[in-house]
This record gives sequence, C-alpha cells and structure tokens, in this order.
Amino acid sequence: MTVHIGAKKGDFAETVLMPGDPYRAKWAAETFLSDVRLVNEVRGMLGFTGTWKGHRVSIQGSGMGMPSLSIYANELIRDFDAQTLIRIGSCGGMQPQVKVRDVIIAMTATSVSTPSHSIFKELNFAPTADWTLLRNAVAAAEAQGLTPHVGGIYSSDTFYDERPDLNEQMVRHGVLGVEMEAAELYTLAARYGRRALAVLTVSDHLQTGEALPSEDRERSFGEMVEIALTAAFA
Ligand code: HPA
Repeated sequence: MTVHIGAKKGDFAETVLMPGDPYRAKWAAETFLSDVRLVNEVRGMLGFTGTWKGHRVSIQGSGMGMPSLSIYANELIRDFDAQTLIRIGSCGGMQPQVKVRDVIIAMTATSVSTPSHSIFKELNFAPTADWTLLRNAVAAAEAQGLTPHVGGIYSSDTFYDERPDLNEQMVRHGVLGVEMEAAELYTLAARYGRRALAVLTVSDHLQTGEALPSEDRERSFGEMVEIALTAAFA
C-alpha cells in the first residue's frame, strides 16, 4: 500500500504497461490478459494484473503529464519492484514523414523540464530508452506489418502549447513527435536501474492539423499493447 496505489506487495507484476488513460488500462487488461484482477482503484487510476502467454503482467494508468506519471512510476519501482515499465500512449506528429496512425518508438525524450529537473541543476541529462526493449519493440512492430519511426520525441509540460518557436527548433532537429510523459519515465528507470520504453501512436499532427478518427484509436491502441507485451517478453 502506497499513497497512490492501494495494492499489497506482490499484487503487481515485474512488467507494467502504463497507458495515460485508466480506462485504456481496463480495456487492455480485459482484451489481452487472462486471469485479470483489479489491483488499484485509488483516485480512479485503475491498475490490473493478469497473465499474457503465461507471463505475469500489470497494466496501470499513469494519468496525463510527467508529475502524474512520476507518482505512479516511483511507487511501482520503489514499493512494488517493477523492473520493466512500458508507456503506451498517443503523441502529436512533428515531422512531414510522420503520419497520423503511425507508430513511434521513442529512443530519447527531450524536455524543457521534468519532475527530476531539480536534482540535475546545470546538467542536461539525456533520458534514453532501454536498448533491448527498443530493439524488441521495433521487431514486434515489423512483425505486425508496421514500419515504426524510431528516434527522439519531446515530452512537453503543456498540451495547449504557447511556444511555437521551441517546436520549430525541435522540428528542425528531427524530433518525431510530442507527448507528455516519457522523459520522466526514462529518467526514473535510469535512476533505479530499471528498463523503460515508450511506444506511441500518432493521434494528431502539429503541422497538418490532421487527427486520428476515434474508430481508429482503439485499433492503434491494441497494436501498441501487442508491441509492448511482445517487446517485454521477447
Ligand atoms: N501535444 C502533447 N501531447 C500529445 C499531443 C500533443 O499534440 N497529442 C497527443 N499527445
């Protein structure tokens, strides 16, 4: 039992998938896992544990933004011994070759700040994905017939962004997409010696204004769950 997770030690698996939306956690657990059990519902941030192909897996909502993800990831790592944490979520496309519905596998995550910023002071720490998970996720996506984009993303503190100049610099430097959680997840994984990855679907595009129709969101989300599960246990 922690401040934000009302579960007992052992209720969570070592591998945890983390969608932002707790209802997505419920859908993924009910759709992909067997022997599913609700293990957390504090503040409605649902978490489930079940099995996938004989492997024990948990799926816990992270909420939106790095401060929220940081709370759940910290507690999962420090109190529930999570070893592998994979974010599955959406992002905004930032490059012309990145199309709505494409999958991005985030190698690095740039940020203006993260909840960990204060410990780094003048240091610009480079949050990086776990190499084995990244390689496995690329292979899993390709096995599904997808061609994922692999590279840097931007973890923003704001959805309603007021800094077009910053976005311009990131576009110029090849940043593929924008979301709001990965940089802190990668930083915590580095600090505690755990494995982390973010697998993202492009739900909208900053340059074209295009957005993924809602019918497509569930299918894309399912693809990410498959990629994440396969990557975790490959
Ligand atoms: N900005 C930040 N986070 C996002 C976006 C976006 O445009 N799209 C999906 N997640």
